[in-house]
Amino acid sequence: MNVQLKTNDLEAFFMPFSANRQFKKAPRLLASAKDTHYFTQDGRKILDGTSGLWCVNAGHCRPRIVEAIQKQAAELDFAGTFQMGHPKAFEAASRLVNIAPKGFDHVFFTNSGSESVETALKIALAYHRAKGNASKVRLIGRERGYHGVNFGGTSVGGISPNRKMFGTLVAGVDHIRHTHDLAKNAFSKGEPEHGADLADDLERLVALHDASTIAAVIVEPVACSTGVLIPPKGYLKRLEAICRKHDILLIFDEVITGFGRLGTPFGADYFDVSPDMITGAKGVTNGTIPMGVVFLKSHIYEAFTTGPENAIDLFHGYTYSGHPMAAAAAIGTLDTYQEEGLLTRAAQLAPYWQERVHALKGLPHVIDIRNIGLIGAIEFAPIPDAPAQRAYSRFVKCFERGLLVRQTGDIIALSPPLIITESEIDQLFDIFTAVLKEAD
Ligand SMILES: Cc1ncc(COP(=O)(O)O)c(C=O)c1O
Repeated sequence: MNVQLKTNDLEAFFMPFSANRQFKKAPRLLASAKDTHYFTQDGRKILDGTSGLWCVNAGHCRPRIVEAIQKQAAELDFAGTFQMGHPKAFEAASRLVNIAPKGFDHVFFTNSGSESVETALKIALAYHRAKGNASKVRLIGRERGYHGVNFGGTSVGGISPNRKMFGTLVAGVDHIRHTHDLAKNAFSKGEPEHGADLADDLERLVALHDASTIAAVIVEPVACSTGVLIPPKGYLKRLEAICRKHDILLIFDEVITGFGRLGTPFGADYFDVSPDMITGAKGVTNGTIPMGVVFLKSHIYEAFTTGPENAIDLFHGYTYSGHPMAAAAAIGTLDTYQEEGLLTRAAQLAPYWQERVHALKGLPHVIDIRNIGLIGAIEFAPIPDAPAQRAYSRFVKCFERGLLVRQTGDIIALSPPLIITESEIDQLFDIFTAVLKEAD
């Protein structure tokens, strides 16, 4: 049924990360979706250039996932996982461990990326305590990092507008510098050449705070939400080595880079780096039912399972950890990824994708283009005294012409579903090029 909303029907919903009044004056409402497209209420077809919100990796309303959710809803609606269980949660965990990078043999379930981050940060603190290193309590993030919106994630996050409304946040947090360097690396194809040494900024924080006080470092392998900052060649390996040297846990936040976005199952695979924990969400259920995951190596899990067998191992969890519907959706999603080879498909598309995205060079106001896997980003020179306006107006124009992109600051990010074809990539860039040519 096509529900028509009247203008004032939009008032009640306080929309997240949105300019509510501006949106409600000129709403963009999506009514249905199939494969690589959305359809608006008035029947317009919109090419999904951003996989919903970086989550619909297998495309929209895929039959196996729809069927798994429908079946589960009728069979077992809810069962908890505190001192109880249901088979689908265990099945989903085993299936996830099978595609996780080497050494990750346990999964903790949450309901979102933000909750996965909180869980990983708390596990890091509890791990060191369990190991007799209770002074290791500091958490290190990175400038321009995004780790969701809960207190821990906001604190280790490094995007200033996300932080400044909310006071002092969690104590004992510090940040290493971000890796974005337009002067040296603009228009890099894939990983930029310059900046591996920025990882040494962690040594600065070790010198300042002492390693005996630092529990963990959390970074996104590719910092996507802040506008796609791709790590310089060798940077992540160097960060890993410094963490190892000082017994600091390394957490990769793979809420976006997980589940095939870079052309490998996880970013850890792509960069050949082996963190201690990996956080995920979004693509785990193809965006259908909220679910988050924290992948753990056995040395982390086993730090909690040495006490008496009847003792609770970790005083942490959510009512909906491993929810039956989410678990069923994850299994249907993994079936789809595996049957269609989607966890590595971005690697096949990447050369063509790179060629098309870099062909935008020279269009008005474009000051940088970046790409990795099936991700692209175009950065615009800001309009003086009107930051973000230039990219925002292009985002609106793209939508009017039938293309959904993601705008953040003066950057537009592109990350279509991994099922996209080359001719759809052509359509995407044809629309985008036309918008960039005509916009002022
Ligand atoms: C790297 C990263 N971490 C955490 C999150 C938060 O996830 P959620 O919005 O599901 O809480 C996101 C969301 O975009 C993300 O990109």
